[in-house]
Amino acid sequence: MSQDKNPEESPIKPWGGRFTEPTDAFVERFTASVDFDQRMYHQDINGSIAHATMLAKVGVLTDDEKQQIIDGLEDIRAEIAAGKFEWSVTLEDVHMNIEAALTARIGITGKKLHTGRSRNDQVATDIRLYLRDEIDVIAKELTRLQEGLLLVAEREADTIMPGFTHLQTAQPVTFGHHLLAWFEMLQRDYTRLMDCRQRANQSPLGAAALAGTTYPIDRAYTAELLGFDKPTANSLDSVSDRDFAIEFCAFASILMTHLSRASEELVLWTSAQFNFIELPDRFCTGSSIMPQKKNPDVPELVRGKSGRVNGHLICMLTLMKSQPLAYNKDNQEDKEPLFDALDTVRDCLRAFADMIPAITSKKDSMYEAAKRGFSTATDLADYLVRKGIAFRDSHEIVGKSVAYGIEVGKDLSDMSLEELQQFSSEITADVFDVLTLEGSVAARDHIGGTAPNQVRKAAATAKTLLAER
Ligand code: ARG
Repeated sequence: MSQDKNPEESPIKPWGGRFTEPTDAFVERFTASVDFDQRMYHQDINGSIAHATMLAKVGVLTDDEKQQIIDGLEDIRAEIAAGKFEWSVTLEDVHMNIEAALTARIGITGKKLHTGRSRNDQVATDIRLYLRDEIDVIAKELTRLQEGLLLVAEREADTIMPGFTHLQTAQPVTFGHHLLAWFEMLQRDYTRLMDCRQRANQSPLGAAALAGTTYPIDRAYTAELLGFDKPTANSLDSVSDRDFAIEFCAFASILMTHLSRASEELVLWTSAQFNFIELPDRFCTGSSIMPQKKNPDVPELVRGKSGRVNGHLICMLTLMKSQPLAYNKDNQEDKEPLFDALDTVRDCLRAFADMIPAITSKKDSMYEAAKRGFSTATDLADYLVRKGIAFRDSHEIVGKSVAYGIEVGKDLSDMSLEELQQFSSEITADVFDVLTLEGSVAARDHIGGTAPNQVRKAAATAKTLLAER
């Protein structure tokens, strides 16, 4: 059917030539992707402009045809941006909607745009472009969050809190040191993101349906016009590869795992039981029944959203598993998980980047907590080793001192010299230098250690990493 024969009917399928009956109405909706792929309209138009520009360069289109196509596409772009474009499910996806609109505008020349191209390489190009643009936004948010962490880490370089293992008080650490641990997780995420970007940023355009095309196309030129690093190497792989989407989801899952861990700590720390930090009211909500409540909703929700992102990774992996070459309609299912992973990660990073610099520490409460759990016991053991006692023996001596402390309700640093000397005659007055929380953290003064001095150095090094981006 040609459009001329049936001007009354809803838009005719661009592929309708060999069909003898219209698509079943439900199947039409079932197979359509326009509801969710229309968000790639900029990328689709940019890809088409690059393709038309290349076709004119190699002589397949005239310069005049190229210009008509570009002008028509720019009009359509403006119409979509203004919310005036009418998307049609009958036209299935973003690609055919825009192409049909172009032909409706400029006539026969619009029908030439698809020369030497297929929706298979078109959609692969669009997703890569879309992903690349979103990666750049996400990279900025990630950097903003890391900057915030450095800001607070420097501010809290001397703040003492208990460090935990098994969520039991272990050794004192500085709050700044703890925040720099989060920074490191995010630093690895950033490098994973950049690694993903690099493999995403290659141009599949020109692979056409699967085997390439008979026209004298210039793939390096379209790649360059679209800001890709280079064309992809194999046409079959180009139209079917979705590794970049899987890689993004893998990055996203690991990042969300990190954010969920930080969230969990923030939730714990804001509780009355820990009472380590305060989140500003603007990042919390109340209860409709309990007037006293101030709930850490933002970290809780971020923690919860890690679930859907993990789901998207599994979804993408399963989608691609066992798919024969080359393009299969299965691939249309790549978009919703990828888009939701992108949206979720971007929003969670934004919430965190806004919230982190606004955290206030409750220093006295952290200090008290660090003192309560015999957190300098290891320091006492190390002290005895320096006095010539073997570590296993000193461990035993300190264990007995702790048992005594529990019995009488005293921290090691609160015991008198005489009390301590019951457990070892090697203990002398200088022991109090190591039993204090300040002495304990200051003594861990090496690369990666918790000493305030090292925290400041690590933050300075981290700043240079961010400056290089
Ligand atoms: N909407 C399709 C997708 O998202 C575009 C490619 C369709 N190609 C095809 N031969 N049916 O993957």
